[in-house]
Amino acid sequence: MTAWWQRGIVYQVYPRSFMDSNGDGIGDLPGITAKLDYLAWLGVDAVWISPIFQSPMLDFGYDVADYRAIHPLFGALSDFDALLERAHALGLKVILDLVPNHTSHQHEWFRESRSSRGNPKRDWYIWRDAKPDGSPPNNWLAYFGGPSWTWDAATGQYYLHNFLPEQPDLNYRNPAVVEAMQETIRFWLDRGIDGFRVDVIDRMMKDPDLRDNPVDPDWKPGDNAAFRLKRVYSECGEGIHALIKIFRRTFDAYDDRVLIGEINYSTSPEFITGFYGSGSQPYGDEVHLPFNLALCMLPWDAGALRAFIDVYDAAIPPYGWGNYVLGNHDQPRIASKIGAAQARVAAMLLLTLRGTPTIYYGDELGMQNVPIAPEQYQDPQGINLGFSRDPQRTPMQWDASPNAGFTSGTPWLPLAADAARISVAVQGADPRSMLALHHRLIALRRADERLTLGAYASFDAPAGCFAYMRGDAYAVVLNLTGAAQTVTLPRSGEIVVSTHLDREGVTGAALELRPDEGVLVRLDG
Ligand code: NOJ
Ligand code: CA
Repeated sequence: MTAWWQRGIVYQVYPRSFMDSNGDGIGDLPGITAKLDYLAWLGVDAVWISPIFQSPMLDFGYDVADYRAIHPLFGALSDFDALLERAHALGLKVILDLVPNHTSHQHEWFRESRSSRGNPKRDWYIWRDAKPDGSPPNNWLAYFGGPSWTWDAATGQYYLHNFLPEQPDLNYRNPAVVEAMQETIRFWLDRGIDGFRVDVIDRMMKDPDLRDNPVDPDWKPGDNAAFRLKRVYSECGEGIHALIKIFRRTFDAYDDRVLIGEINYSTSPEFITGFYGSGSQPYGDEVHLPFNLALCMLPWDAGALRAFIDVYDAAIPPYGWGNYVLGNHDQPRIASKIGAAQARVAAMLLLTLRGTPTIYYGDELGMQNVPIAPEQYQDPQGINLGFSRDPQRTPMQWDASPNAGFTSGTPWLPLAADAARISVAVQGADPRSMLALHHRLIALRRADERLTLGAYASFDAPAGCFAYMRGDAYAVVLNLTGAAQTVTLPRSGEIVVSTHLDREGVTGAALELRPDEGVLVRLDG
């Protein structure tokens, strides 16, 4: 028996940018519902929707003011129910985004907490006195700039926030907070959602003594100022694994729901696999899928990829299941990082590895970062620190109509100059497009279990090429260079698909790869 999320493919929707149904320039739930047929056609299994809850939108929904209410920009609860019903009718699962580490400053819990030192919710957040000289309790730095502490003059204490001052961190050392978040999870699981992606799940616990973070010796001027210190004490604090286990038990009370955890960007397999927990039950007792974001960080180099994937795959405990991600709303687009030609090779990699793939909306078209002038930045990370995430959050490119069919109004972020060409409609009609490649690879993965569940084993290939087996049946050979290469397969076979979508048929053991080409081969016998 394998879980649906083990066989499946996840597709991430950034709801502001997927489809606008009412012309206000911002994507919404009826817009997503209208495009579910497209996702069903593409062949993915689940849609993960970034936060849709009530929020002042200072971090575009990652600052939640009410975990149970839909933001009116996105629609009403009834719109969500309609989305869920349509998705389920199409056989698609729906995963929402839970942001438990912090709330918005506008959340009722924080309003109460800051109202007085004696308020029963005071201890729901992390409040501390100033040092004798009036400075913050320690040196921690917020991800979005400045110190992690903000002074509250009315009650004469500092509160902790790892992100914006308007995103105060909850205090998970208080059992009432743990219980309140469990109730939030149950509310949505009862409503029928299929799981949550949990934001910064590893950062919910801090050092109990709030010790100073050490300086990062590798940081240099010009790097993001928020990373001058190593976040040794401000996250992954004592008790984090016990807390995640409590979250997990809430999921386990329901059938078949998935808990995906966003953990720190790391290329340490040991760090990532540390979040499966113990093998006391199938799929561990912590996170089902601890996001493996290593492919977002590693250089696009065959040797580096092989070295990481070999170790990661082997490090996944026998009761756990891996996953891979090429991009998301926080990272530059893969096609911009490695170029359009190699993005096709990356798609073959993502969709043929042993581990659940997550596709970021628009990457199936090869969407690129859209240049955005600093005065137009919306993202607080861009405004405060200069590292804007807006370029990877631009509207989905549907067709050649104005605004690429995303909105009849003014889009909240500009569209790419080539949006009409790099679109679902145009690529859907082109049998060799990036979209056609995704459609084909997904269909192949779905059709043969060996491409999902089969063992992964890399084999030697010329420098610049990465080659691996899936089960004994399939070889995947990827040319990460712009020159022709010859790879030696374990034996002869049949080319099932090339990333160029222009060849199939028999091959000997010596397989010639063209520049920027990846090939999937079904081996004989
Ligand atoms: C990670 C999310 O992916 C990012 O977009 C957000 O800004 C931070 N967590 C804070 O919630
Ligand atoms: Ca709208």
